[in-house]
Amino acid sequence: MEKYNTEQSKALFFEAKQYLVDGVSSSFHKAANEEYPICMTHGKGSHMYDVDGNDYIDYVAGFGPMILGYAPDVINKAVAGQLEKGSQFSAPTADLCKLAKKLVEIIPCAEMVSFQSSGTEANMHAWRVARAYTGKMKIVKFEGQYHGWADEQKVTIGADSVNELGPKESINRLMNTAGQRTHTADDLVLAPWNDLKALEEILDKQSNEIAAVLMEPYMCDEGPILAKEGYLAGVKELCQKHGVLLIFDEVITGFRLSLGGAQQYFGVTPDLAVFGKAIAAGVSLSMICGRKELMEKVHPSGTFNATPLAVAASLATIAELEKPGVYEKMDALGKKLTDGIMALGKKHGLKVYANHHNAICQMQLGIDRAPEDFRDCLENVDRKAYDKLYLLARDYGVRLTSARGRIYLSTAHTEADIESTLEVFDHIFPMLKA
Ligand SMILES: Cc1ncc(COP(=O)(O)O)c(C=O)c1O
Repeated sequence: MEKYNTEQSKALFFEAKQYLVDGVSSSFHKAANEEYPICMTHGKGSHMYDVDGNDYIDYVAGFGPMILGYAPDVINKAVAGQLEKGSQFSAPTADLCKLAKKLVEIIPCAEMVSFQSSGTEANMHAWRVARAYTGKMKIVKFEGQYHGWADEQKVTIGADSVNELGPKESINRLMNTAGQRTHTADDLVLAPWNDLKALEEILDKQSNEIAAVLMEPYMCDEGPILAKEGYLAGVKELCQKHGVLLIFDEVITGFRLSLGGAQQYFGVTPDLAVFGKAIAAGVSLSMICGRKELMEKVHPSGTFNATPLAVAASLATIAELEKPGVYEKMDALGKKLTDGIMALGKKHGLKVYANHHNAICQMQLGIDRAPEDFRDCLENVDRKAYDKLYLLARDYGVRLTSARGRIYLSTAHTEADIESTLEVFDHIFPMLKA
């Protein structure tokens, strides 16, 4: 198996770095341990192609959105058709009404929707709605969970060790970037996720100040970690008991676990939910949805909310994902991939855990069971080994997310992609031990 030559990517990155902060347009676009990221020319289906002419099997999916693969014909057609009519109106359209109605039909908690452009904005809006409705200011945010890059959101999103997090009862407010206003974190109550007792104690003491409990219902960012049996239903019950709203951040899980998101997949309906990434298969669109009485409390602003292009793309995405067998096919491919990874772990004497849920797979090294929570990940998952795997996979033509352990599938992936990926892993797993 030949290692890829990526010299042109390297040259282009160092040129861009002179004019563009970090040489990339988001911290997601380059892994911390990469000397330079791969510069791409195009993608089609489940593959991406770089400036050196290399062909990669892709599991990054544009960091989540590309659930139909790259440059899907149905989206291209819908967007091109809309381009002819105009890309931005600042006015409602019949398609906007059609999309809102459709989302209300497919998402369990949705009685009304409101559109934004990014997950960051939609989460900001959801928090505002929760505060407006309850008249309370505090939000329970879980350690390790990421909801966007606004001042109030980027708090205790990651840590290098459990020590850095501090004790579960008084979790440290870890600021993530320079220039962040630390006082914005005063309205956050930090809690360990997947620990019902800890949440109960918080709500018993402080529910008169808490507007909402916000969580990723399947902790994908800084995970992936599944909710323990009964945890999601338990949280909902606690929230109802204490008059606190439950918000699901479904920016990753929305349209990936199912069209109705994690709430449909796991059968627990929150008061509000935030969707983004995959809902328009690569065109920027996000939204919040929930009960009418909550949603009507705050009126959203935003020049680019639900542009006609995004609306056209989202309608086409839904039509594609509603076709029979689509999720079953992705789930079967996920099983083939993750079973294969587990088998290769055994073959090479490497501790690895892999699992799959429709269009999201997970893979962790250094552990051979599902991680229980963020602290378990920090203590037991071999994050350095994953960073190494990421670079090795890249060298041999498999594009993994730099976010350790998340693997995104799309409707464009094939059995042949999975087989080729497993051949690459078979080749590089022994190198992880070196
Ligand atoms: C769970 C979750 N919420 C919110 C966001 C923020 O979304 P965006 O990057 O579109 O602002 C992300 C982004 O990765 C995410 O993973």
